[in-house]
Amino acid sequence: MNKLDGSARIGFIGAGKVGGSLGVAMAQAGYSVVAVASRTAASAAAFAARIDGCQAYGGYQDALDACDMVFVTTSDDAIADVVASVRWRAGQGVAHCSGAASLDVLQAAARQGAVAGAFHPLQAFSSVENGIKSIPGITFGIEGGIEGGGEMREYLAKLARDIGGNAVFLKAEDKALYHLSGVMMGNLLTCLVGISAEIWEHIGYTRDDGVRALVPMMRAVAQNIETSGIPAAVAGPYPRGDLGTVRKHIDNLQARHPALLPLYRELALAGLHLAVEQGLTDEGAGEFRDILTKADTEADDMDRQDEEGTIV
Ligand SMILES: NC(=O)c1ccc[n+]([C@@H]2O[C@H](COP(=O)([O-])OP(=O)(O)OC[C@H]3O[C@@H](n4cnc5c(N)ncnc54)[C@H](OP(=O)(O)O)[C@@H]3O)[C@@H](O)[C@H]2O)c1
Repeated sequence: MNKLDGSARIGFIGAGKVGGSLGVAMAQAGYSVVAVASRTAASAAAFAARIDGCQAYGGYQDALDACDMVFVTTSDDAIADVVASVRWRAGQGVAHCSGAASLDVLQAAARQGAVAGAFHPLQAFSSVENGIKSIPGITFGIEGGIEGGGEMREYLAKLARDIGGNAVFLKAEDKALYHLSGVMMGNLLTCLVGISAEIWEHIGYTRDDGVRALVPMMRAVAQNIETSGIPAAVAGPYPRGDLGTVRKHIDNLQARHPALLPLYRELALAGLHLAVEQGLTDEGAGEFRDILTKADTEADDMDRQDEEGTIV
């Protein structure tokens, strides 16, 4: 492998949110980010403008010829084609930042002797500006190929730490589960916020009102989790054993927002063991399980009765 240490010349193909954020973070940490190419010249130029000494190239080949280590930060679907469209040097480093793909998408480069890796930032990047700020403290999921994989893993782990993050090493077969945990947090949690805020539309307010009301709570929840951990941060009627409160939730969902009942029920059931870890008795958990599971039947009954027109 050639010069995969702090002095390696780094390039990016794909000048979007992740590439742009990592490029700046690496340059700020003292790494030499020297080249970028993208699908459009404008994106590559914007990337290069943020980093002293970085040149935007019109072609991928010219960009990667100028580097020892190339990060392919295109959309997931474009990685394999982009990698296959260029010539790689033996010992050159190549990594992608996808959480869903493994190293197979870099096969074309590995066949030519390049050393393959994956460097997935476990974070939601919505823009370069926010992305740069959101890197400190995050975790990078790292893989290294068979040839030179050890050196690549070490290089990427040091890089992760140097830009303020942490490193975890992943096996190819674990990648999808690892990625799914991040999607549940970054993507599905955001959906849960949207869905929770939409409940406010049923009580005379807007979704935005709901978001405004719920975000301070979200911040406190994140802080509680950070400081107290799981299960201590799990609060509410479940660890308290407040069966009557949950019965009211179910009644109101059935009467006023039945579409939400399956989600509420499955989330509550899936997290019940955390309430037990918090001190809820097995008997209390059984009672919750009973009314939540029964809510299914009652909802079905209600649907049936609705269809038959027996309930208004
Ligand atoms: N966003 C996240 O939250 C996140 C988090 C972790 C990992 N990732 C991973 O990071 C990678 C990049 O994602 P992103 O969110 O940064 O996407 P993005 O903002 O859409 O950027 C992708 C960039 O790739 C370029 N591109 C697309 N197709 C291309 C092609 N055929 N050839 C060359 N460049 C091409 C686009 O270039 P132009 O602008 O020039 O058109 C675009 O700037 C993906 O592998 C993704 O899975 C994303």
